[in-house]
Amino acid sequence: MEREAELDWIRRFLAHLEAGTTDLAASELRLPSSIFTSAEHCSQERDFVFRRQPAVACLSCELREPGDYLTLRIGEVPVVVIRDADGRVGAFVNLCRHRGGPVARGRGRAEGGHLRCPFHSWTYTVSGELAAIPNAEAGFDSIDRKEWGLRRLACAEAAGVVLVRVEGDESIDASEALRGVDPDLRAIDLPNYHHFETRETEWKCNWKLLLATFLESYHVFSLHRESVHPWYFSHPMVPDAFCGNLRFPVARRTLADLANQPESEWHLADHATIQWFIAPSTLISYTRDYLLLWRFYSPSPNRSEVVTSLYSAQLNDAPETRGRLTKAFDGQMRIAGSEDFSLQETIQVGLDSGALPEVVFGRNEVGTQVFHQGLIDSLARRDREGGIRA
Ligand code: FES
Ligand SMILES: [Fe+2]
Repeated sequence: MEREAELDWIRRFLAHLEAGTTDLAASELRLPSSIFTSAEHCSQERDFVFRRQPAVACLSCELREPGDYLTLRIGEVPVVVIRDADGRVGAFVNLCRHRGGPVARGRGRAEGGHLRCPFHSWTYTVSGELAAIPNAEAGFDSIDRKEWGLRRLACAEAAGVVLVRVEGDESIDASEALRGVDPDLRAIDLPNYHHFETRETEWKCNWKLLLATFLESYHVFSLHRESVHPWYFSHPMVPDAFCGNLRFPVARRTLADLANQPESEWHLADHATIQWFIAPSTLISYTRDYLLLWRFYSPSPNRSEVVTSLYSAQLNDAPETRGRLTKAFDGQMRIAGSEDFSLQETIQVGLDSGALPEVVFGRNEVGTQVFHQGLIDSLARRDREGGIRA
């Protein structure tokens, strides 16, 4: 975070702590349970949230050199992001134009500057052009190869983040997508990080239930009574909202000690896990040692796919470093999985029964309100604009 924003946040937190208060929204937010259970709502989110808003595909540091690529899915669309010979990141549908084979798998560097489909070896440049159709005899004589490159997707790179949108030709406005969180991300110098590991998990519940567990710490005193609460505050919660994006540091108990120290000694990262939510479905969680990038998606209302990547600025090949990061990753996944996410699976079963028609988000749950309101606004824009844009 920039210095003034950091000091301002700590001042607000300490004032709340002394007064026994927390940030409050104007009112409670009541929402129908069907947003977590309805197939129609789920397909609206797929079509008008996931496909028509930019998603965080990866961090710039994962594509350091020309030819570096990685594959992922955004919504259900297979995507390859790759740095071209001029150093620009491009994104393409990861489907060969012949008959749909994957032109890249996992992550790596394009051999000889090309991506090759394993089915019949059609070959593409790192800029997506069709370069070769080997051994086809005269089989494709009449196609114009210039027209048969990989399908290019809108892509932008800013503040060390790569954004991709899978529908629509207009370019991505990165400063709009990263509104509010952009200066914080620049301050932690993401291009200096290194990718350590990515884990994919599946859960039997809606993606919004999972993501929302990061956006309030109100539950910490209860659900994480033994595991987290001894070290972290449940309240005060001091989220900063930026038109749907959020900054939400979760404070360690040591932060209270700063009240007795001069402001020049105040460093938030020593006393908090700083989280940023980038609408619609990405969460970044930052500590001094490492950073986690979480992406969420539901292919059906009560199923979620979660992709979690760990990065560190201090990564090296020393076994101690790798062991420490693996242990940290295991610990984060264990608490999220066994405490937060498994409870959401139980909640989903209950909501699927139809026995609880609505849920409520309190005035103290500002972060979760901002998250849900952003989704409501996206779908409302779709309705107003006749389904053309979200
Ligand atoms: S599907 Fe890719 S070469 Fe045939
Ligand atoms: Fe939690």
